[in-house]
Amino acid sequence: MTNITRYICSDCGFSTVTKTGKCPSCGAWGTLEQHDEVKTAASRAGHSRVEVVSAASVTPPGRVSSGINELDRVLGGGLVPGGVVLLGGQPGIGKSTLLLQACGFMAAAGVSVLYISGEESSAQVALRASRLGVASGNLLLFCGSDIEDALSRVTEDIGFFVLDSVQAMRAPDSPEGWPGTPNQVRAVAQLVIDKARAMNVPAVLVGHITKDGKIAGPMLLEHIVDVVLSFTGEGYSSYRMLRGAKNRYGGTDELGVFEMREDGLRAVEDKSGLYWNRADTVVPGVAMTVALEGSTPLVAEVQTLAAPTAFPYPKRTSRGIELNRFQLLAAVLEKRAGVVCGAYDLYLNIAGGLSIQDPSADLAACVSLASALLGRPTFAASCWLGEIGLAGEVRPVTRLTLRLREAERLGLKRAVISAREKNDSSWPKNMEIKKVNSLNEALKIGGVC
Ligand code: TYD
Ligand code: MG
Repeated sequence: MTNITRYICSDCGFSTVTKTGKCPSCGAWGTLEQHDEVKTAASRAGHSRVEVVSAASVTPPGRVSSGINELDRVLGGGLVPGGVVLLGGQPGIGKSTLLLQACGFMAAAGVSVLYISGEESSAQVALRASRLGVASGNLLLFCGSDIEDALSRVTEDIGFFVLDSVQAMRAPDSPEGWPGTPNQVRAVAQLVIDKARAMNVPAVLVGHITKDGKIAGPMLLEHIVDVVLSFTGEGYSSYRMLRGAKNRYGGTDELGVFEMREDGLRAVEDKSGLYWNRADTVVPGVAMTVALEGSTPLVAEVQTLAAPTAFPYPKRTSRGIELNRFQLLAAVLEKRAGVVCGAYDLYLNIAGGLSIQDPSADLAACVSLASALLGRPTFAASCWLGEIGLAGEVRPVTRLTLRLREAERLGLKRAVISAREKNDSSWPKNMEIKKVNSLNEALKIGGVC
């Protein structure tokens, strides 16, 4: 028999064998608590088997539809029996609404669903359910904060359950602490995972997030669940984005977009419409591109304003493209294409609040900048897809065909791409596709200089 003493931080769940005043992981003081573990030889011996991985032993997981296509797509095809999803998001973003709607659709499809609410009273949930029009005989509701009591209601006939939220529940047999403390959150999550596995039903846990966007509670929580989804949105907008951060059963590159309306959340099919109002803009300083959010192509409008300044240090601001990248592009434009930026304040913006991380929008940014500086619009209904190198060369972008198809779907007529892109028979037939080697060539083709 061996005695192991561990010190576990009650704030972040960090575990160490040495006692220190300050947690080395989260920096909190006085939060390390002593936990003694006794390991016997039998427990150390382990009971796990070593298995051979062969194609024959692999069966793809069966999927259960949540009734919301957009959610199913982000999940990689639907919920997986025995799999636990953690849905994180700020308070008021719409987590409870989304899940209650999913529960309603599943109940209507004949699945017995249990919605466990630790935060709201049954009257509040029932009111919301009736507003959303999801009341059904198959939708059962449990309101309370005792996790063992709640999970005892997950009986044989339940086909899906939701726990809203992991921070509001209390595990009576586990280390003391208020609901929401790391020990409690971990214990509650583990009980839910054990239950979902034992009953072989899918489950969703709701988790609140802290100010810096992390799911509140021990970091361990994200490791022990199978799927982590984040639900985000800007305060001023009614649009909500659903993204996968981890998925043991599929990819994490799908984007789900919803609009919060009076009668609940509605999926937004036309995602490019969020960022582009389809005005056939011929104003100087505007150029279109197709950005990728995960694997979702989004047509975006890059806008630049150039205002003359008398100050020796002109101002550069950029929203949607990293400022350093924008400054670099301005320097390349000046040096390689001879478009002088020095005497102008420059303001770049991607319309609609989109943020583009990959360099595929470089060409559109340069064209928009040159067009603003020279006061000449580029041709209408066109998009610009290319990365710009320091020598002023136009480089290929990833997943070009996907981007071109989205541009065509939205009625764009022309695309300017890198000459190094290999022709592909699946490119849209009705678009005029022009290849360029350099930024100079692109500006000439666009009629900017
Ligand atoms: P909610 O689902 O309670 O958020 P969370 O569970 O993430 O905290 O959503 C709360 C907000 O959504 C609230 O401010 C009201 C708004 N809302 C609507 O606009 N329409 C609706 O149909 C519902 C149910 C909520
Ligand atoms: Mg809620």
